Amino acid sequence: MERKREHWGNKLGFILAAAGSAVGLGNIWKFPYITGENGGAAFIFIYLICILVIGLPVLIAEILLGRNSQRGPISTFKHLAKKHRNLWVTVGGLFFITGLVILSYYNVIAGWSMGYIVESIAGKISSFQSSADAGVHFNSLVSNPGWIISWQLLFVVLGGFVVYFGVRNGIEKIAKFLMPIFFIILLFLVLWGVSLEGADKGLTFLLKPDWSTVSFKTVLMALGHAFFTLSVGMGVLLTYGSYLKKDENIFFSGIMIALLDTFIALLAGLAIFTSVFAMGFDPAGGPGLVFNVLPAVFSQMPGGNVFSTLFFILLSIAALTSTISILEMLVSTLMDEFKMKRHSSVVLLSGSIFILGIPSALSFGEFGSFRIFGLNWFDMMDYLSANVLLPLGGMLVAIFIGWYISKQEIIGELFHGVRDTQFNRKTSNVWYFLVKFIAPVLILLVFLSAIGVL
Ligand code: TRP
Repeated sequence: MERKREHWGNKLGFILAAAGSAVGLGNIWKFPYITGENGGAAFIFIYLICILVIGLPVLIAEILLGRNSQRGPISTFKHLAKKHRNLWVTVGGLFFITGLVILSYYNVIAGWSMGYIVESIAGKISSFQSSADAGVHFNSLVSNPGWIISWQLLFVVLGGFVVYFGVRNGIEKIAKFLMPIFFIILLFLVLWGVSLEGADKGLTFLLKPDWSTVSFKTVLMALGHAFFTLSVGMGVLLTYGSYLKKDENIFFSGIMIALLDTFIALLAGLAIFTSVFAMGFDPAGGPGLVFNVLPAVFSQMPGGNVFSTLFFILLSIAALTSTISILEMLVSTLMDEFKMKRHSSVVLLSGSIFILGIPSALSFGEFGSFRIFGLNWFDMMDYLSANVLLPLGGMLVAIFIGWYISKQEIIGELFHGVRDTQFNRKTSNVWYFLVKFIAPVLILLVFLSAIGVL
C-alpha cells in the first residue's frame, strides 16, 4: 500500500531545513561557552573527532532509517524491528521524552534571545562598563518571571506557528528564507570581530590546545555536544529523513549538514572570541557568556547596539529553525501513532512544552535554589538531555542499524540516489563499520569513564 506522506519540495530545502535544525543555540550560545570552560583548542579538537567518527556516521544512519520507513521514530522502530519490538518501541518513546525535555528549556533561552533583540533596539544593553554590569542587568531580567515567561511563551507560539503549516509550506519555506539571512549576518560579525585590534588573542585561544584541562568529563562533554549540535540521537533527523524522496543522495546530504554545522560553530566561536579577547574579557563566562559578556563587549564599541541587535537576531533565527525540527519530530510521532491531525498535535504539544518549560524559566530566580545533584532544574535538564539521553539515543540508533537490520537492506537504501562506484562502495563499508562497531563501543567507553567505572 502506498502511504501518503508529505515530502520536501527539493533537495536544497531538505539540506537547509536539516542544517537549520543542526545550527542552533548549540552552535552560538553553547559551543563558545563550553569551549571557553574546557580549555579552548583542545576541546575543539576532541569535538571535531567526535563529529567525524561518531556524530556524522550516526547522522547518516538516522536519515537513512527515516527515509527507509517513511515514518516518525516510534513507527519506524515498529515497522523495521524484526526482534525485540517492544524494546525498540520504548526507545522511540525515549526519543519523544528527550524531545520534550530539550524543547522545554531550549525555548527559554530562545526567549531570552528574542527579548535581547528588543533590549538592543531600545539601547538598554549598549552602555555597560563591565561584564559585571551587564550581568546585573541580565540577572534582573531572567529573575523576573513576567519577562522570562512572556518571551518563552512568544517563542513557543512562533515555533508552533511554523510547524502548523507543515513540512513544505512551513518548515522548508522558513528555512529557505532565514538560513541565507543567518549566513550573511554571521559573516558580517566574523569579519568585524577579526578586524578588531587584539583579535589575535582570541585566535590563539581557538587554535592552541591546552591539554592540561582535558579529562574524561571533557570527552563526554565533547561527545554530548557533537550529538546535540548535529541534532542527532533522538529521531529528529530520522523524521526529516522520512520526508525525503527515494532518489536523494543521503551520504552527500549528511556530509553537507555536518560540514555546515561545524563550520558555523567555528565561525561563531571566531566572532565571539575575537571580540571577547580584544576587549579583555574572560572566555569562561558560562551559560551567560553571550548574554553577560557580549553586551559588555558591544558596549565598548562604536555602533554597539547595531551589532548587538544583529547578533541576537542571528541567535533567534538559529533557535527557531532548531525548535521547529524538534517540534516536528514530536508532531509526526503523534500523527503516525495516534492518527492525530497536524493542527491539534501542534496545539497540544506547544501547550505542554510551554508548561514543562516553566520550571526551567524560573530556575534563574528564587526557584534556582532548588537543586538536584547540585544543579538547578534548568542545568539538570540540559545536562541530562545533552550528556545522557542524546549519546544513549545515538548509541541505540547505531545498534539498531548495525545489529537489527540486514546490511544488505541498509546499504541498498543508501544506494538509492548514490552512484554505484567502487569508491562509493568502499566509503559505505567504512561508514557501516563505524556505525556497527566503533560508535557504540566508543559511546559506551565514554559513558563508563565519565561515571568513573573506567
Ligand atoms: N542542534 C541544535 C543546536 O545546536 C539543537 C537541536 C535541534 C537538537 N534538534 C535537535 C539537539 C535534535 C538534539 C536533537 O542548538
